[in-house]
Amino acid sequence: MDPLHEIEVLVRAKYPIVYVVSWEERRVEAALQEVCKKLERKLHTWSVTQGMKPAVNRATGPAKPTTLPGELEALALVHEAPEYTVFMLMDFHVYMKDSRVVRLLRDLANRLRGRAQTLFIVSPTLNLPVELEKDISVLEFPLPEPKDIETQIQSVVSNVAANPSLDVKLTSEQMETLIRSAQGLTADEIESALARSLVEKKSLCVDQIIEEKKQIVRKTGMLQFYPAENDLGDVGGLDLLKEWLMRREKSFTEAAREFGIPYPKGVLLIGVQGCGKSLVAKAISASYNLPMLKMDVGRVFGSLVGQSEDNMRRAIRIAESLAPCILWIDELEKGFAGMSGSGISDSGTTARVFSTFLTWMQEKTKPVFIVATANDVSALPPELLRKGRFDEIFFVDLPDLDDRKQIFKIHLARRKRDPKKFKVADLARETAGYSGAEIEQIVVGALNRAFDEGRELLTEDLREEAKAQVPLSRTMAEDISALRLWAKVRARPSASVKD
Ligand SMILES: Nc1ncnc2c1ncn2[C@@H]1O[C@H](COP(=O)(O)OP(=O)(O)O)[C@@H](O)[C@H]1O
Ligand SMILES: [Mg+2]
Repeated sequence: MDPLHEIEVLVRAKYPIVYVVSWEERRVEAALQEVCKKLERKLHTWSVTQGMKPAVNRATGPAKPTTLPGELEALALVHEAPEYTVFMLMDFHVYMKDSRVVRLLRDLANRLRGRAQTLFIVSPTLNLPVELEKDISVLEFPLPEPKDIETQIQSVVSNVAANPSLDVKLTSEQMETLIRSAQGLTADEIESALARSLVEKKSLCVDQIIEEKKQIVRKTGMLQFYPAENDLGDVGGLDLLKEWLMRREKSFTEAAREFGIPYPKGVLLIGVQGCGKSLVAKAISASYNLPMLKMDVGRVFGSLVGQSEDNMRRAIRIAESLAPCILWIDELEKGFAGMSGSGISDSGTTARVFSTFLTWMQEKTKPVFIVATANDVSALPPELLRKGRFDEIFFVDLPDLDDRKQIFKIHLARRKRDPKKFKVADLARETAGYSGAEIEQIVVGALNRAFDEGRELLTEDLREEAKAQVPLSRTMAEDISALRLWAKVRARPSASVKD
């Protein structure tokens, strides 16, 4: 929805207090200015440094200098102001922890309700005390839309067109890519990216915008660009999962869209530790040739209550702005721990962040392919498993005989050994119950053994190393069979059964 229109509706409908979530005070102020002009209201802005502008006179009492703290004075001014005024308070959320401020805002909501007077609180983060939830409406001021970005680029172009040292002519395709890549940035960020591009490249190019985005991803701390390191060829076994993934790749194309296929939503990989879930996640990026972002759910939970939801929203926005892309969430259950009735009270923050995420998964229209992994199903909230969240849930089990052969070959080859020189079939037979990670450990351990003794690696080294290790599946046999039982009815097997 158009934010201007929404603001107009709220003002017309005499909403008392509106909390606007945005990093862009200038854009919000411009929007309020425009609406006020149209509706013939007077706009006053307040910030802690500037005070109230333009100044409002206290309507009652003698004109004496006030002894009230600035934030209380601001609310008092709003309280006494005549009708047909609109107030915009900047960064006011910091004061909303004060119980006096909360109380005053509640009084104010009562007073302003039904009056032609609206108070806007603008802040980059949503931080609403529960007491105020019923009195304040929240408006998420969206980042610049493609048409806004186009206007902005065009104004830069016309501003510098006369400068002969700059080449700012853009073909319509270049314009389109520029607009697409700038989505998800604030107007200020776009401006600095464009300015940087002009300084460094003497033209407007996409690289600088991508740079700006990487910068943001870095700053937010909860997302990380993940370079594509390996592809599905490095994954042993898991044939059904790999096949499914390869088939889905085509659904990202425009042709698939025209055919009526929606963008793939994502996949959840559940299973035994060390069997290649994270490995597959990393490989998808290279196989699909899409950038991958890794989300650190732990970091989404900011230190301040209320910030977490914002962080989650910001992470989602950034991911969407980079679409098509892959969003990897490793060990999902850890991030959302505390969800499953353990009674751990974080005043519902986890639950709210989680529901923000779930809603997004359900409703997202942008091609952000989610790859989530989990080791422990008991900690997973059941809502996550409902149809429509993921395209598919796969169960990743311990590798069978054939898969272990493949995994031995992959790891021997990766360490510059010719797998044909080793009795891989025998080794695979002797390592029933070993995970992929453990097989890798066997190879690495055996190499160390041989190197220590100053000779080339032999099958015997691998065999000895295998004997020396106790696979997790032996110590965790019960957990694994419980997991299998669980997966049987809820997940799709990721490997065909051969032995
Ligand atoms: N199926 C497999 N094929 C090849 N290597 C594997 C496989 N499974 C695990 N590994 C090796 O073990 C390492 C750890 O596995 P990982 O993917 O992190 O396990 P998980 O995420 O399932 O706990 C991988 O980086 C890889 O080197
Ligand atoms: Mg893992």
